[in-house]
Amino acid sequence: MKPNAADARYSRRARWYHWLVFAFVALAYLLINVRGFAAKDSDVRTHPMQGHILAGLTVLALVLPRLLLRLHHTPPPVVRELVPKIYTVR
Ligand code: HEM
Repeated sequence: MKPNAADARYSRRARWYHWLVFAFVALAYLLINVRGFAAKDSDVRTHPMQGHILAGLTVLALVLPRLLLRLHHTPPPVVRELVPKIYTVR
């Protein structure tokens, strides 16, 4: 069966990368804000900071293979193929 362009979507792997990157960016942001709740000179501040850096570096580690995947797989069109809705009567 011919693949329908309207059904074209990102591959499962690309979607996994997308949501993992989203989760780690959100985690990095959350952790840097959590750090703000700890007292300025306390040791407790280092943990969310380390977590923040780790989450950020994980984003970098995920983005590189994601870019390679993108180079080898053409993404689906942003706009779906237009299907004519007007029919002529013969
Ligand atoms: C997805 C990745 C990342 C996001 C979204 C992110 C976001 C942020 C945000 C919002 C702040 C607070 C800025 C402020 O209000 O002053 C911050 C601070 C900081 N981030 Fe990141 N960051 C990321 C990755 C990283 C990485 C990979 C590193 C280190 C290798 C890093 C090191 C720092 C440091 C040192 C600060 C300053 C903390 C301070 O004010 O003392 N970040 N980041």
